[in-house]
Amino acid sequence: MAKKKATIIAIANQKGGTAKTTTCENLGIGLADEGKDVLLVDVDPQGSLTIALGNQMPDEMEPTLADMMERVIRDEPILPCEGVLKHPEGVDLMPGNIALSGLEASLINVMSRETILKQYLNTLKDRYDYILLDGSPSLGMLTINMLAAADSVLVPVQAQYLSAKGLEQLLGTVSKVRRQINPKLRIEGVLLTMVDQRTNYAKEIAELIRETYGKQIKIYKSEIPRSIRAAEISAAGRSIFRHDPKGKVAEAYRNLTKEVLADGNRSLKRSKEECL
Ligand SMILES: Nc1ncnc2c1ncn2[C@@H]1O[C@H](COP(=O)(O)OP(=O)(O)O)[C@@H](O)[C@H]1O
Ligand SMILES: [Mg+2]
Repeated sequence: MAKKKATIIAIANQKGGTAKTTTCENLGIGLADEGKDVLLVDVDPQGSLTIALGNQMPDEMEPTLADMMERVIRDEPILPCEGVLKHPEGVDLMPGNIALSGLEASLINVMSRETILKQYLNTLKDRYDYILLDGSPSLGMLTINMLAAADSVLVPVQAQYLSAKGLEQLLGTVSKVRRQINPKLRIEGVLLTMVDQRTNYAKEIAELIRETYGKQIKIYKSEIPRSIRAAEISAAGRSIFRHDPKGKVAEAYRNLTKEVLADGNRSLKRSKEECL
């Protein structure tokens, strides 16, 4: 089998409830539906992604991401794909749980503490086309580890009220990580989520975010509409594509998947040209 080289995308926003987990799951499964090999990694101590993929009790699971990162810290070997779970919809999952918050605290005394996650993902990178990291709502050491490991950051922003300040803060952290730890880190794009298409207010906010940031960074054309169908999928343990395949949220995540794939192809072309 030819070796792969995964594109690692961190789904990040230090604000809670902006649809990071929902986006990680549905973009991941969208990419798998397009024939890509995809690993989803739950980097949030709340384990919401792990739950959303059908594992009701993340805190009782073993091994999880915290165990793998612990191994890296102790310089112990990790077997190929050890602890990686298979989801029936064709994605793999490295689960995460509350043990990540203990691990985050212990990182303080660790050598190369910003790159522990990166070192772990290096053991898996040649098996996947895409690795998506679901972040926690903070700018702590776990988020820094995500940004240090990632090629790019995808930022879901809730369009319900203006979280421009949060976006500003995150962009600041991204440029700092770029300067100090990971010079190749890019912004993959900003995704407007939970857009209430019936109100002018939501449209105005979407417009304002596009005006303020659209020149500097990519804002996806696809916007994710607010819908009760999206809120149901976590309990159902399956993606929006299986839960409500004909609905507008499934359509929006399908379009987002295509945009992400198109951007991937473009940068592939660019790096080939650079090699000539
Ligand atoms: N498009 C949507 N429409 C309505 N509710 C949504 C949508 N996307 C996510 N939700 C709900 O909003 C809440 C926060 O989403 P989640 O993906 O967990 O955000 P985060 O990971 O950023 O905290 C969850 O209860 C989720 O089910
Ligand atoms: Mg989440």
